[in-house]
Amino acid sequence: MSKPDFKKIIAHCKEYGYIFQSSEIYDGLSAVYDYGPYGAELKKNIKDYWWTAMVHMQENIVGLDAAIFMHPKTWKASGHVDAFNDPLVDNKDSKKRYRADVLIEDYIANKVDKKINKEIDKAAKRFGDAFDEAQFRATNGRVLQYQEKKDKILERFTAAMSGNDMAEMKQIIEDLEIACPESGSKNWTDVRQFNLMFSTQMGALADGSSKIYLRPETAQGIFVNFLNVQKTTRQKLPFGIAQIGKAFRNEIVARQFIFRMREFEQMEMQFFVQPGTEMKWYEHWKAKRMQWHRAVLPEEKLKFHDHDNLAHYANAALDIEFEFPFGFKELEGIHSRTDFDLGAHQELSGKKLQYFDPEKNESYVPYVVETSIGVDRMFLTIMTNGLIDEEVPDAKGGTAVRTVLKIHPALAPVKLAVLPLLKNKEALTDKARSIFNDLRLDFNCQYDEKDAIGKRYRRQDAIGTPFCVTVDFDTLEDDTVTLRDRDTMEQIRIPISEIKSRISDKTDWRNLLAEF
Ligand code: GAP
Repeated sequence: MSKPDFKKIIAHCKEYGYIFQSSEIYDGLSAVYDYGPYGAELKKNIKDYWWTAMVHMQENIVGLDAAIFMHPKTWKASGHVDAFNDPLVDNKDSKKRYRADVLIEDYIANKVDKKINKEIDKAAKRFGDAFDEAQFRATNGRVLQYQEKKDKILERFTAAMSGNDMAEMKQIIEDLEIACPESGSKNWTDVRQFNLMFSTQMGALADGSSKIYLRPETAQGIFVNFLNVQKTTRQKLPFGIAQIGKAFRNEIVARQFIFRMREFEQMEMQFFVQPGTEMKWYEHWKAKRMQWHRAVLPEEKLKFHDHDNLAHYANAALDIEFEFPFGFKELEGIHSRTDFDLGAHQELSGKKLQYFDPEKNESYVPYVVETSIGVDRMFLTIMTNGLIDEEVPDAKGGTAVRTVLKIHPALAPVKLAVLPLLKNKEALTDKARSIFNDLRLDFNCQYDEKDAIGKRYRRQDAIGTPFCVTVDFDTLEDDTVTLRDRDTMEQIRIPISEIKSRISDKTDWRNLLAEF
């Protein structure tokens, strides 16, 4: 078994109708993607998995579908107009544009962390079972030297970022002698802040007064509707509002396929709590969200990462990271956002956004714990984790390689393929079609009669279809079919009347969410 490299995963997504580059016939639009027929199904299933877990399974969380356009003051209050920036730097020779913070972070990862890890790996090999990593880190001269260098860089970097000191950012790049990864040139422009929000004009006026933004996060639609939702659903604290929707960011460097896009989709939940209880709920959602991930992804590919730099609105924040083909990276953010957003909207709008607590007999602005995950990023974890090349026996007694997308059956775009053994035998195709027509209301099925049966199995493997049933001549005699399992390739004979319950058992949300 082997893992296809990232290029092959991207090619697979295109070949099997999962993801296409946007506007491909015009050479594409950078960092914008379209989801094809199977991609649209998988994306819908990921969203359903989240919605079922976060809304239907939670008595005190309700859903919302707010508009993408919001009053421009929303983004002033939230801090996005003034502070939703990335530090941008251009290389004068290669004309390539970079995020200055990423250049520095990459330097730390490649030039310092890698060296520390090399020393640790060497020592671990030398000392075997007796190796104590913590002690080695605390005492080894070389590791201590590297660590000191890293701490110094981080201290300068953190101060420059939080103090909005772009001259210092450039100085750090120069002092570290960071070169352009494309050209090797160290000829940099000044570092300047770049706001990530897309803007457009509402109505016919093209003056500043009609400028509005495409939302860079869905969360603000929840905040401004906090009282509408609380009153109409008669919720008491603590309670949550969940939403799935598009968000837009003019990312400076959009790379790594659907990992960083300019148009993407978020699944966000704001949990409103009594001030002072936020850390309890932060821990609660940290555990719950990890449980949600572990149900469909391997534990060893997931980890928590506490933020070194807290955003302007947070008093605690972490990422759930996943090991993508390009390393551990953020998959989901969990943030304790205090009363920052509701407080800011209350101040700028002049409208009270307070909760009347009947037990305390007082009104206050609730605190908020947020969980926020990108649908597309979750999609990428499912694809990169699930797609494998596997050696299997071939018909001639040798071996062949099959590419199979091993994703959880509940998330699979197509649950069942119904295949007549031969396409030119009407009795077989009629029977297969009648099974297909009977089951398509229960789950997404596909009827396929083209090509030899082995080729059709391989195609369903590549799409990720967990089950195939084959209708053959015995079916016409005894109403049984062959049921083939995608992962084991095992084939068993079952009555037609059992197909529905067998597939439902494996594809039911209960398999993932009974304990949630
Ligand atoms: N409301 C908080 C918020 O938006 P964030 O960390 O900026 O926080 C949350 O974004 C999640 O949205 C990320 O963990 C990631 O999964 C997804 N996300 C953010 N920017 C993205 C982008 N440019 N492309 C794809 N997904 C993105």
